[in-house]
Amino acid sequence: MANSLLGKLLTAFLLVVVITLSITVLATTHLFGSYYTTEKQRELTERGHSIADVIASELESQPATGLLPIARGLSGYFGERVLILDRRGMALSAGHQGMGMGRRQSVLAEGDVARLLKGEVVSHTAFDPRLSTTVLAVAVPILVNNQTEGTVLMVAPLADIEATVSAVRRISFYTAGLALLLAGVIGFLISRSITRPIREISQATELMAKGDFQRRVENNSGDEIGQLARNFNQLAANLDHTLSALNREKHKIGKMERLRRDFVADVSHELRTPLTSVHGIIEGMLDGVIDEKQARNQYLPLAYRETSRMNRLIQNLLDLSRLEAGNHTWEIHAVDLGEAVSRVLSRLQPQIADADVEVRVNVPADLPPIPANEERLEQVLTNLVSNAVHYSPPSGIIDIETKMGPGERITVFVRDDGPGIPEKDLPYIWERFYRVDKSRSRNAGGTGLGLAIVKEIIEAHGGTVQVESAPGRGSTFSFTLPLHRETENPGADPDRAPRGY
Ligand SMILES: Nc1ncnc2c1ncn2[C@@H]1O[C@H](COP(=O)(O)OP(=O)(O)OP(=O)(O)O)[C@@H](O)[C@H]1O
Ligand SMILES: [Mg+2]
Repeated sequence: MANSLLGKLLTAFLLVVVITLSITVLATTHLFGSYYTTEKQRELTERGHSIADVIASELESQPATGLLPIARGLSGYFGERVLILDRRGMALSAGHQGMGMGRRQSVLAEGDVARLLKGEVVSHTAFDPRLSTTVLAVAVPILVNNQTEGTVLMVAPLADIEATVSAVRRISFYTAGLALLLAGVIGFLISRSITRPIREISQATELMAKGDFQRRVENNSGDEIGQLARNFNQLAANLDHTLSALNREKHKIGKMERLRRDFVADVSHELRTPLTSVHGIIEGMLDGVIDEKQARNQYLPLAYRETSRMNRLIQNLLDLSRLEAGNHTWEIHAVDLGEAVSRVLSRLQPQIADADVEVRVNVPADLPPIPANEERLEQVLTNLVSNAVHYSPPSGIIDIETKMGPGERITVFVRDDGPGIPEKDLPYIWERFYRVDKSRSRNAGGTGLGLAIVKEIIEAHGGTVQVESAPGRGSTFSFTLPLHRETENPGADPDRAPRGY
């Protein structure tokens, strides 16, 4: 407590109050005492003057009488606290017993006698052992024709003054004690109101140091402490926000690292399978296990298929990496969708005929042109239609349709009545190398990159991709593109940060 801020504040507060009160009490009692003594002095001087005047007029009216008989005659009136002295300071009247009566020696000091002879009033305070109290003595000269003929010495004990002063001091001390108590309570409350929020902030910073940024300090006051609390809360909120963002970033980096590793593993696997098979064929031929006839009829066509798949795989990988890096510079033109579909279908004609499927195109002639890179848009259509052809049953029907809206957008659908895709696979269908039926797709020559390329191209055009499918009910792949582009060069989109493998 003594070392705490509360203790220090309280001590300082009480110290100031104690010092102030002490000064006030001392000054008050001192002033009170000196005022009282001065008043007494003035009163004694006045009385001394009137006695001196009476004696002086007696002396003036009967000059022959002398001071002694007058003094003796008057002594009964004044009591023992008034003494008549001669010019040398010897007591003449039978006044105060303690003033050296009867011993014929000066009651006053030499200096005082000299001052009285000059006509001055002399006054002193001194301790009187007989009365056991401090007394005030005032000596007033008896002036006859401006000549000092004697002295009236007035003595008054200051005991009652002292008693009064000490009573005043006592009352002052009680009052000071009470004030101190009140000051202590008020000081404690004020100090606590200051230190409590500081303590709260201190506790919150301790929690912060342990990584907890949730604690806030409650303080709505408008003073500096309130401001400090608000600033602290703001700081904690900012740190919390930054830290969460950093954590998210860390998580994202971790995820990207995992993706990169998966990708390398996938690519290696995809390349190893056809390479192994080609390697086996060549080895068999070299060893003579495969004869020339077998090789020409069976194994060389297989090696050809494998190498062309590898070729396609590498081509697709290059495409994808260029798309994901975002550094492609395409030219965007107004593309007539109907014409693009016709070109794609005529190129896929051999596969369509092979699969024995019917493709129905329902693209309105008055469809507005789409701002896109023609080659890339055709690549998207090719990938979607070739998938549909590939997965359609014999005599299956493929529909290519369009829909306007919502807003200035167009959606293109490619629908087939193939086997469909299980719901659990739908979220992953756009990922690289993801295949629903792995062996079947790979054996059929698929690289598993077609849909990933579609997604990248469409998103680079500011569009979105969707899929709707259920097992046994066919699949509908679609993409939506804006009919107006803000930037003519999708590759220059700064928000699309390059993605690394
Ligand atoms: N129309 C479809 N009907 C059913 N499944 C489909 C259809 N289109 C795609 N898929 C599934 O999605 C997977 C990924 O398709 P994607 O086009 O990316 O690769 P792929 O067709 O196997 O290979 P590639 O297109 O590179 O030759 C396919 O392997 C298949 O399982
Ligand atoms: Mg495909």
